Parts: sequence; C-alpha cells; structure tokens
Amino acid sequence: MNPLSNFLSIPGLELPVIQAPMAGVQDSALALAVCHAGGLGSLPAAMLAPDELVRQFGLLAAGTERPWNVNFFAHTPPLPDPAREAAWRELLAPYYREFAIDPAGIPAGPGRQPFDARAAELVEQFRPAVVSFHFGLPPDDLLARVKASGAFVMSSATTVAEARWLESRGVDAVIAQGLEAGGHRGMFLSDDPTTQVGTFALLPQIVAAVRCPVIAAGGIATPEGVAAARALGAAAVQVGTAYLNCPEATTSALHRAALTGETALHTALTNLFSGRPARGIVNRIMREIGPLCAAAPTFPLATSAIAPLRAAAEKLGRSDFTPLWCGQNPVCPNEPAADITRRLARGFTA
Ligand SMILES: Cc1cc2nc3c(=O)[nH]c(=O)nc-3n(C[C@H](O)[C@H](O)[C@H](O)COP(=O)(O)O)c2cc1C
Repeated sequence: MNPLSNFLSIPGLELPVIQAPMAGVQDSALALAVCHAGGLGSLPAAMLAPDELVRQFGLLAAGTERPWNVNFFAHTPPLPDPAREAAWRELLAPYYREFAIDPAGIPAGPGRQPFDARAAELVEQFRPAVVSFHFGLPPDDLLARVKASGAFVMSSATTVAEARWLESRGVDAVIAQGLEAGGHRGMFLSDDPTTQVGTFALLPQIVAAVRCPVIAAGGIATPEGVAAARALGAAAVQVGTAYLNCPEATTSALHRAALTGETALHTALTNLFSGRPARGIVNRIMREIGPLCAAAPTFPLATSAIAPLRAAAEKLGRSDFTPLWCGQNPVCPNEPAADITRRLARGFTA
C-alpha cells in the first residue's frame, strides 16, 4: 500500500503533518490549532501532573472531532544513586554559591514520568486516535492496553535497529528521528552518540528496513524539506522546532529570544538538563561544563539539581541554565500554527 494513504487512513486526518509533541513548551492549545488545520496535533504528557493531564485530555476531546496524538515517555525509571547525585552537586557548587542557593534544600527526584497504569486508564477513557512514545515502548501489558483502545501507535527510532525493534513489537508507524532534531534523542537500544545519524541518511535506511509507514523528523521546517522527506519515502513529517515560536505555544520569552537570534545557529546534544542527550542551543552551563558530562545523574534525575539555578538566573532575565531545546534548522516564524501546518503540507503536493 502507498505509505502516504496508509498514514492518512487515520479517520479525519487531512494532512500528513504531525506537530511534534514538545514537553515543557506547549499544551492542548497548540495541538488543537494544528488539528483544526487538518494536521495531527500532539499533546506531550511527560511533564504533566496527573490532574493536569486529565484536564488537557478533556480540552482536546471537547475541542475537536479530529484525531489528536498524546505522547508519553517510555523510559525505565532509574534507582537513585546518592554518590552520583553528590558528585553532580559538587560540580554545580560554584554556581550554587554564585546564586546564594543552599543545595541541602534541593529535593532529589524525577523530573518526568514514564507511561504507567494510570496513563493507560486515561487512554482507555479518552481514546485518543494516536498514541506516540519516546524512548522505546512501555511494557507489553501496558502496550497491549493502548493497542486494544484502538489507538494508532507510533514511536521514535534513531537507528535502523530501533526501527526494526519497534516494528517487531507491533507499532503502526515508526518516527525516524534524525540527529538534527530538537529536544531529546529518542534513542533506547544504545546510549552511544556515535550511532546517531542525520535525518536524510536515516530515513531511507529505515524505509528500506520496515514495512510500516515511516515518519520523518529532524530539521524539517519548510515545504522544500517536506518534499525532500517525501522523496525519500516519508509517509508524513513530524515537525517540532518550526512550531516553537507560534503564538499558541507556551515557549518562554527567553527561549523565543534565543530561537530567533544568532544563538540558535549553534546547538549541541547535552545531557546536563535531564541526564539524557537532547539538542538545545549552547548556553553558559553547556559551554562551561561541556554539553555531555559523565557526572550528570541518569535520566530523568539530573533535572532537580539544576532547577533552582535555572529559576534564579531566569529571574535575572538570563537563560544560562535553561534548556533551550532547538533543532539544527531553526526556522521559527511567529505565525499561527495553522498557517505553518498548511504551508508544510504543500511539500507533499508540490
Ligand atoms: C522543545 C522540544 C521538546 C520536545 N519534547 C518531546 C517530547 O516530549 N516527546 C517527544 O516524543 N519528542 C519531543 N521532542 C522531539 C520531537 O518529537 C521531534 O523529534 C523533533 O522536534 C523534530 O526535529 P525538529 O525540532 O528539527 O523539527 C521535542 C522537541 C523539541 C524541540
């Protein structure tokens, strides 16, 4: 079957354009704007408290008849490692002194929750048309519940091996996430950054390796980029960075300023903000400690120690400790999400 018609077989979906779920910078408002334009809007669930997640599901269900996507992380929470946490805080000590922060008062703990039984109940209750995962897939019993709800299931692959693994577990589509992509690498079979390749090298290899539709993600921000992805076999595109400066996104003023200035031309993979490699604009902490640091606690435990530094600097109008997630192609127009969605979709018909 033509992969494009296969993806568009999701009832009510008009355009093969997915607004990437982006935890921390959006809620249902951005997703709804994209759905109303005929694309697939996404709600990132990873950083939402349970009550807020229920509220956002309700807003989506009430706000559109069209399909929408809810996205969850599928990592295995690590055991706390007090020695590593202490070493990490020791590394950050000069910054705590600079901002007069007492590290003893900082709680250790997770910054993001994986998909669990409670989330599965919500999927069963609200029946989103699409459910996507990052960092692999949840345990078999939970995945079975998502599939039984009737949802179209997708997950990110950053290598051919990950794409094959996902297909063998029954996903309906694989998101080929190239190295250009903003935010967290979805990598889950290896943590070796040298396994990661760019979108237009990864995409045709994954298209050749799996039978399900493949969605291209990473560095795609214009109709020309969409057309290139289509030429390489993409059934749809998943676009994040291009939506970050939309009025419907909740991106902070500091983040928007960085995205639209010269600074956005220099991004790097960093694990300093969460413990997992993610692409963001190089800022002070990334420059001074180095973007990838072995001392950072395992995902998502690195988040808590840096949070008070981020808050203190942001109060002074500085993004020195803020994760400024951004892909390598920072085309970030301050335009309604519907306009961006329709423009991107032209790449499929040109
Ligand atoms: C600010 C930001 C937050 C992100 N958060 C998530 C997330 O919560 N879940 C997810 O699956 N992907 C997340 N991603 C990655 C996107 O799904 C996608 O791979 C990426 O945006 C594509 O590359 P682009 O940013 O160059 O368009 C995020 C990306 C950005 C830029």
